[in-house]
Amino acid sequence: MEALDSSQVIAVVGAGTMGSGIAQVAAKAGHPVLLYDAGAGAARKGRDKIAGGLAILVERGSMDEAERSEMLERISIVDGLAGLASAALVIEAIVEKLEIKQQVFAELEELCGDDVVLATNTSSLSISAIGADLSRPERLVGMHFFNPAPIMKLVEIVGGLATDRGIADSIFATAENWGKLAVHARSSPGFIVNRVARPFYAEGLRLLQEGAADVATIDAIMRDCGGFRMGPFELMDLIGLDVNYAVTESVHASYYGDQRFTPSLLQKELVDGGFLGRKSGRGFYDYADGADKPAPADCAVKPAPDAVTMHGESPFKQALVNLCSAAGIGIEQQPGDDFAIVCGDATLCLTDGRMATVRALEDDIENLVLFDLALDYESTPRIAICKADNASAAVLDAATGFWQKLGKQVSLLDDVAGLCVMRSVCMLANEAADAINQQVCGMAAVDTAMQGGLNYPRGPLAWADAVGLDHVLEVLDNLGQNYGEDRYRASPLLIRRVAGGKNFHE
Ligand SMILES: NC(=O)c1ccc[n+]([C@@H]2O[C@H](COP(=O)([O-])OP(=O)(O)OC[C@H]3O[C@@H](n4cnc5c(N)ncnc54)[C@H](O)[C@@H]3O)[C@@H](O)[C@H]2O)c1
Repeated sequence: MEALDSSQVIAVVGAGTMGSGIAQVAAKAGHPVLLYDAGAGAARKGRDKIAGGLAILVERGSMDEAERSEMLERISIVDGLAGLASAALVIEAIVEKLEIKQQVFAELEELCGDDVVLATNTSSLSISAIGADLSRPERLVGMHFFNPAPIMKLVEIVGGLATDRGIADSIFATAENWGKLAVHARSSPGFIVNRVARPFYAEGLRLLQEGAADVATIDAIMRDCGGFRMGPFELMDLIGLDVNYAVTESVHASYYGDQRFTPSLLQKELVDGGFLGRKSGRGFYDYADGADKPAPADCAVKPAPDAVTMHGESPFKQALVNLCSAAGIGIEQQPGDDFAIVCGDATLCLTDGRMATVRALEDDIENLVLFDLALDYESTPRIAICKADNASAAVLDAATGFWQKLGKQVSLLDDVAGLCVMRSVCMLANEAADAINQQVCGMAAVDTAMQGGLNYPRGPLAWADAVGLDHVLEVLDNLGQNYGEDRYRASPLLIRRVAGGKNFHE
């Protein structure tokens, strides 16, 4: 089925945060838009909010006044569901309550034409459940926008058990015509983004709970080394800890308590204590007037080595060779099974998911310092490291001086399994793989969704390919061993790809 034509009427039910944003998107694409909200004056307020937002765009010169007024003229307020009868597509963005959504759709089915498409912006409810009592459930589809809808690119097009694929394809094409990045998903808890993103927050929370580093340092590592726009704590503060916790709890409960989604006790304590983030003035950070934002803890400057020996091979070796050359550090290259950089008495290795102290013992390495994954070793301004308990302070100084000479700030973590970026990325990729394995979405959709929905610097599966899937699997297995928790169990799809010698994308 084809995309809706811009002359066709779009109705939006619910004019709150999401509904007003969605109405703006549809009006911008040229559709006549009908906006309805059950709250007294709420639809007008929603339209005023759109008008105010557009006025700012005109002030900034990114929209002209004529376009603004034409867009606003296309948005009409109606005072009852009956006023939406002419719509070709009704998008519902009301309160997140199953019975109320079911009721609204039942009424809409009666009021609108047989060929109307019904869409819900639900974040957490099953599309199949919302459509269970409809007489034409095949015409109901999830159209999951992200907040703020006019800005966030992604729309998840979610099919329930009864949804007609042709209808989903038509709404997919319509969303693309509206300038959005659309992905198909099967109705399942958290759909794609709210499911796959859980480890981004959870691994940060676990690192904090274990005292690996403070919030500012973990955030800086995820931003600088991971390339994420925000670290997990500043992002949770922005989203609201209560909202973020509720999503995790809902996904966890929906998957019948799967340990992969276990909520954080630390986050619960903060929520219970009213530390909700920016909106309550404090969360992981303090937002009181005059409060300083804490800086990450950076290691003091240490002397750098003149030369290092690189053993073995790694997908990241060339980047490190380039950095050493640029910094004037001599390199002797040696064969070897595991990639390691020997620098003075220190042996530097990429984390494989074991604690440094355990790996030093198991692999009989005397002075082991581990380093974390970076999105791009050449451009990262920071690197995270940790040392084995039996490695001396002098060894740590040699490792620190090495990275500093390569132009990096050095963040020292306590000896924690999988460090920070590596364990987060492996867990994101594992969850992405499992979503595919469980037929929630296709291989390309998950990377598109995480980049378009949350501005991730790289899709988790493409990132796992770059790390090497055997290494990702090893990290997960070692994390599982380290914690003795089912949380880190590898997705069958990852295991299969490694066994077959294949990447995710090929
Ligand atoms: N806020 C987000 O970040 C976000 C993101 C994606 C999806 N969603 C989903 O979008 C939906 C709306 O969320 P929101 O944040 O915009 O909520 P909101 O509280 O800002 O707005 C909801 C609006 O719906 C109206 N409403 C409630 N019951 C109604 C009814 N029976 N008929 C007509 N109007 C009714 C309310 O008066 C209110 O104006 C929810 O399903 C939510 O899960 C929210």
